[in-house]
Amino acid sequence: MRIIVVDNYKEMSKKAAAMIASQIILKPNSVLGLATGDTPLGMYKELIEMYDMKQIDFREVKSFNLDEYYGLEKENSQSYHHYMIKNFFSNINIDKEKINIPNGKAKNIKKECENYDKKISDSGNIDIQVLGIGVNGHIGFNEPSVDFKAGTHLVELDEKTIKSNSRFFNSIEDVPTKAISMGIKTIMNSKKIVLLANGKGKADAIFKTVKGKICPEVPASVLQFHNDVTIILDKEAAGKLES
Ligand code: GLP
Repeated sequence: MRIIVVDNYKEMSKKAAAMIASQIILKPNSVLGLATGDTPLGMYKELIEMYDMKQIDFREVKSFNLDEYYGLEKENSQSYHHYMIKNFFSNINIDKEKINIPNGKAKNIKKECENYDKKISDSGNIDIQVLGIGVNGHIGFNEPSVDFKAGTHLVELDEKTIKSNSRFFNSIEDVPTKAISMGIKTIMNSKKIVLLANGKGKADAIFKTVKGKICPEVPASVLQFHNDVTIILDKEAAGKLES
């Protein structure tokens, strides 16, 4: 694991964007694995600026998002489809046909999940996967007690996750209790992984991910097994690593 500690959120976002940009410059038809949440918003902003300055071109890029809430329409303003279009895709020249996000309204969930994994492997697997981390150490929506061998699947959301994500909804009752998420197996098949975390609230999860034992109770700890992981942290998220 390569750990990079920077002064603040802006620096974290800039470093992550630089990694994605160099991936696209080196391989214009890169397959990107993308994340949602507050953490990568700054990175998307930086990438949009680089695109505006004609430093990067997304025309040949293919993308796969980590997850989507189960039961939400694409058009719902809380869906990850909506988030991605608003915060990233509508501002760059990515080909709509090359965007992939699990369909939270799929009738046959098992088939949706199998097809998603097949599409990823048919694309030659993800070149670089961006990850945030939940306060409970989740990646994507792979919650504690995860099966490390699982591919994309339907997940029951953890209480902590529902509580934490309720900030985006009108009330906690509105937060979906299930989601479709890439599994740990899917994520671990990525060639490179970059995990971002900022703020004190993530310090404990980061400590357990980096220094703790590898166990399903801390899903992100599995990343210790991957041979190309970069973790970019602000000082607060790195706060417990020093000793
Ligand atoms: C969400 C997403 C994750 C994200 C995490 C942290 O529930 N499913 O992909 O990394 O929680 O979110 P945030 O960046 O808002 O702290």
